[in-house]
Amino acid sequence: MTVATKSKSQPAAASVNARQLMDELNADAGKLNIWVRTELNAPAQRAWFSDTGGTTGAGQLAKSGRVAANQLKTLPCHWRWKDYGPFLERIEAIAKRADVSPIEFADRQSILLTNPGLGGRLQVTTTMRTAVSIYTPGDVAPAHIHSANASRTILSERGGYTNVEGERCEAVRGDLIITPNGTWHDHGNDSESSVIWIDMLDWPLLEVLDCAWVDMDYRGAGAESNSKIQRTVHADGYSGRLYGHGGLKPTFVSHQRGWGHNPDAMVHYRGADVREALDGLRREKGDAYEGIQLQFVNPVTGGPVGSTLDYAAQLLRPGEETLPKRETSSTFMVVMDGEGYTEVGGQRFDWRRNDIVVMPNFLWRRHVNTGRKDAVIYTTSDAALLRNIGQYRAQGKTKDGSVVQLVS
Ligand SMILES: [Fe+2]
Repeated sequence: MTVATKSKSQPAAASVNARQLMDELNADAGKLNIWVRTELNAPAQRAWFSDTGGTTGAGQLAKSGRVAANQLKTLPCHWRWKDYGPFLERIEAIAKRADVSPIEFADRQSILLTNPGLGGRLQVTTTMRTAVSIYTPGDVAPAHIHSANASRTILSERGGYTNVEGERCEAVRGDLIITPNGTWHDHGNDSESSVIWIDMLDWPLLEVLDCAWVDMDYRGAGAESNSKIQRTVHADGYSGRLYGHGGLKPTFVSHQRGWGHNPDAMVHYRGADVREALDGLRREKGDAYEGIQLQFVNPVTGGPVGSTLDYAAQLLRPGEETLPKRETSSTFMVVMDGEGYTEVGGQRFDWRRNDIVVMPNFLWRRHVNTGRKDAVIYTTSDAALLRNIGQYRAQGKTKDGSVVQLVS
């Protein structure tokens, strides 16, 4: 088949309003689930960013957005503890006087953070879902297993637990408890005070991939039938005893927990260990873009704790300012200590303890510790996923404003 082309020099026999006709064509095609390129809907064809890593430092988020209904983009966003904390207090108050506990009829006692750029979806970025949960004394979240990778970052001083494949993990502020995909886990609180923690999941990513699923029918580890909780096989601290001595890996256990092809070994990272490690490095120069930063790693592979989500903790010393950086990954941060601000995409977010900020991919951002004490920030990003699919890049700006490739 040949396609006839009209010579540019040849005038049209009868001029028509091509723009209008193309839009009418698109309207007709839509009834058959077909979409036609027109001038009017052109923004829906554009990439979010026009520069691919040059040296101009451009790449701001398109101001006009896109016109197609389903085109969504993660926006910078800030959730203050003074704003979201009271909702957890109100849930706690309801639970204390409840005829039926909210965790019974709502499955969890949580607030979920919704990014204003994502149309009300239950996600903070295109790949991550965040809940902040409260477990009052006596609460139990039954044993279950799912395809999503998940974690808890503990905000309360102590209280509550997560049992991961029989390992009892007592929750203490600053702890990071991982539930790799395909691990049975249950949560609860048998202490005398409520516990609050942040749940991070790669759930939206799995929804895109159409492989998000959950199974609640726990029958393992001595359970006779659909038990609500797992029997504790390994006492609190098992992960630390196995892997908590840097550079030493036990040879007598399988490092595989959960599903997947890579070992998912350690599930409980202690906040006290994180803080001690950061403090021990405070006199080092650190990174111009991240300060003193430590990545939570899988002790068997040396890589990120999972194949999708990447976790890190960073120390910003009093007065420390980082230089602007941007990455192809999106980052969620929670302030574990201190006060300061983060600039992202031209917006400034002043933060304090327990505040949360989302930094969308490829927007310039930098942190400043304005306090007289250390600031400690935990981050969760989808950098692990992007590295795995060959899409992770990062750029920084020098003090004079020129752009340098950090990872290309
Ligand atoms: Fe879960």
